[in-house]
Amino acid sequence: MSIEVDHISYTYMAHTSLENKALEDVSFRVDKGEFVALIGHTGSGKSTLAEHLNGLLHPDEGCVRVDGVDLKGKDRAAKEARGKVGMVFQYPEHQLFAETIYEDIAFGPRNQGKSPEEVDAAVRSAMAFVDLDYDVFASRSPFQLSGGQMRRVAIAGVVAMEPDYLIMDEPSAGLDPVSRDNIFSQLMKIFHKRQMGVILITHSMEEAAQYADRLLVMSGGKLHLDGPARDIFTHDRETLEKLSMDVPESVKLADELRQQGLSLKGTPLTEAELIRAIERAKGWKAC
Ligand SMILES: Nc1ncnc2c1ncn2[C@@H]1O[C@H](COP(=O)(O)OP(=O)(O)OP(=O)(O)O)[C@@H](O)[C@H]1O
Ligand SMILES: [Mg+2]
Repeated sequence: MSIEVDHISYTYMAHTSLENKALEDVSFRVDKGEFVALIGHTGSGKSTLAEHLNGLLHPDEGCVRVDGVDLKGKDRAAKEARGKVGMVFQYPEHQLFAETIYEDIAFGPRNQGKSPEEVDAAVRSAMAFVDLDYDVFASRSPFQLSGGQMRRVAIAGVVAMEPDYLIMDEPSAGLDPVSRDNIFSQLMKIFHKRQMGVILITHSMEEAAQYADRLLVMSGGKLHLDGPARDIFTHDRETLEKLSMDVPESVKLADELRQQGLSLKGTPLTEAELIRAIERAKGWKAC
């Protein structure tokens, strides 16, 4: 069970003066149950790639398969395969449209042909997942919410469709730290409960290092690196530098401490890992 991206290329406005090759020979595979971060500079092709993963765009060359089915097809199997991939777009709150939060979240499951009872159950459970109290919020307008709450409604709308794979395009962009933590704690809850395949697009190395097991690094429409986050931040620093990509703060701090003579081992990906590495290097015992 996986999304397979097989040598895909894509050009916007091909054969015009505005032609722009956004993806070039990209291949990778994400299995169900994996949490992968897709990182890269602005304009590197992340969103374009994401839109290929649920069949919104089709590649000029190569193909994308979900559980073995090519998304390009017009038959029922291809439609079903596209329906397995949920997509939270960049700034998803811009896509809220209904008069009430209930109606907004119910739109997807209703389109999937669920009965009114099933739609109701899906809305309730999606709202519970994103921590929005049904009794308080269901009948309210989505446009009277804070940015973080709107984002949660948009995520609930995707979760309500119970996708097997979830693509999230910068879900925390523009949010304050508390809303950001909220979104990620809900996301990790859903991920662990449903064992979906998750692809998180982010500009934050901290988010990539903290949540993802594996990184995909894009630049100029090509996939340059694909591997475990710790390996990439340990062994591929030169490539990251060439691509002008950063590393997490904890990795930088560990470097500085080593330069100052502390024999600190490993590549701490988070603040908590850095603290443990310092404790070990200093021979402190945690209480
Ligand atoms: N609708 C479009 N029409 C034409 N060109 C586009 C379109 N969308 C994106 N592009 C171009 O394709 C390339 C890849 O853009 P894309 O939006 O996929 O990058 P990104 O990595 O998601 O960037 P960001 O981090 O800013 O979201 C860029 O050169 C961009 O200008
Ligand atoms: Mg983008």
